[in-house]
Amino acid sequence: MVAVRPAGAALVGEGPRAIVVAQRCGLAQARDGENPMSLTPLRSRLSAMRQYLRVNFPRFGSLRRIYPVNPAFGLSDGTPIDRYYIECFLESRRGAIRGRVLEIGDRRYTERFGSDLTSSDVLHFVEGSPEATIIADISDCPQVPANSFDCIIITQTLHYIYDMERAISELHRILAPGGHVLCTVPGISQISRYDMDRWGDRWRLTSLSAAELLATAFEPAETSIVTYGNVFASICFLEGIVTERLRARELDHHDDDYQLIVAVDAVKAPV
Ligand SMILES: C[S@@+](CC[C@H](N)C(=O)[O-])C[C@H]1O[C@@H](n2cnc3c(N)ncnc32)[C@H](O)[C@@H]1O
Repeated sequence: MVAVRPAGAALVGEGPRAIVVAQRCGLAQARDGENPMSLTPLRSRLSAMRQYLRVNFPRFGSLRRIYPVNPAFGLSDGTPIDRYYIECFLESRRGAIRGRVLEIGDRRYTERFGSDLTSSDVLHFVEGSPEATIIADISDCPQVPANSFDCIIITQTLHYIYDMERAISELHRILAPGGHVLCTVPGISQISRYDMDRWGDRWRLTSLSAAELLATAFEPAETSIVTYGNVFASICFLEGIVTERLRARELDHHDDDYQLIVAVDAVKAPV
């Protein structure tokens, strides 16, 4: 048995906890038959030690608190992380935002990403929005004629509606043949208190449930679904830590098991 403590100790420190960690990771002694001078097993044991430390001694730092850093998506501090992904998605679909465009709630994305517009409408659920040109429930809007729009932008809204399938059916009906519905929904998110207190915050979707929902009205072959997010971005988003505090690679790393935003581009079949 040959102690390799110097290398291990350099990483774990000197106290009794350091010795326990080094022993559990096999750093405190060479394994049977191992050349104590060889670096390869030492490296793999160091890597095991780092993993052990990550799992058993996570550094929570200032996040060790039961209240979020900012309870309202970080809106008062900068750009909420979900908006970064929503805007990445719409940027990638600029070409579809043209002609007669309908946006739910306001026209911020029509103005930012649209081109060659022939009309710009805003649908709001309740009276009182200065931008609204249509007051309607998107899951039941017979007053809106069929085939009216070349593009419908419905960001962060579908999950507020109990009967999402009916909303998809109405979106399909009022969309012109060849037109696009650009829709985003949260996969991982806190409750939106503002929306909960007005029309209700009901659902979170995954890429699978979004695909199944869209397939009730649109051809699956004409529907594309992308997801955005990763574990770190999700933790930061839940904490209300904003886009400006993260590095580009931390935002852009994609892990499909952490779907912070689910985004859909569905095209109505041309007649
Ligand atoms: C958080 S905003 C989302 C839209 C906004 N453009 C955005 O990207 O944040 C919530 C919107 O959901 C709309 N909404 C809620 N329930 C609705 C319904 N049943 N039909 C139509 N709009 C609805 C409200 O009018 C409101 O404008």
